[in-house]
Amino acid sequence: MPARLDHTIVHSRDRFAGARFLAELIGEPEPKPFGPFASLPLAGGVTLDYLDADGDIVPQHLAFLVSEEEFDGVFGRITERELPYWAGPERNGPQEINHNFGGRGVYIEDPDGHSLEFITHTYVIG
Ligand SMILES: [Fe+2]
Repeated sequence: MPARLDHTIVHSRDRFAGARFLAELIGEPEPKPFGPFASLPLAGGVTLDYLDADGDIVPQHLAFLVSEEEFDGVFGRITERELPYWAGPERNGPQEINHNFGGRGVYIEDPDGHSLEFITHTYVIG
């Protein structure tokens, strides 16, 4: 069995603001302090540990698989907040979602410039 991702670090100008931005979108509780991190546990046992960083933040890409109902909730909060969103990863298809692989998908940027993707169907490769 392949190894399961347990946690990863996400650099942020403000760790709680960054973690809270995602937590609120996906309907999760307030991130918890853990050492120097603002920790956001996700389904599947993986935790995102937001860490305050100085200097330039290298944008990461984080993709989240959600149910159709969860997508409705996430996308509703995106539009309610009037956040810019895109159908594609290169800011293509502004204010549109995609229907790749028979599902729905959308890209947004968090306050630190990380690219967040929400999909209802995982990528089909090969
Ligand atoms: Fe992706």
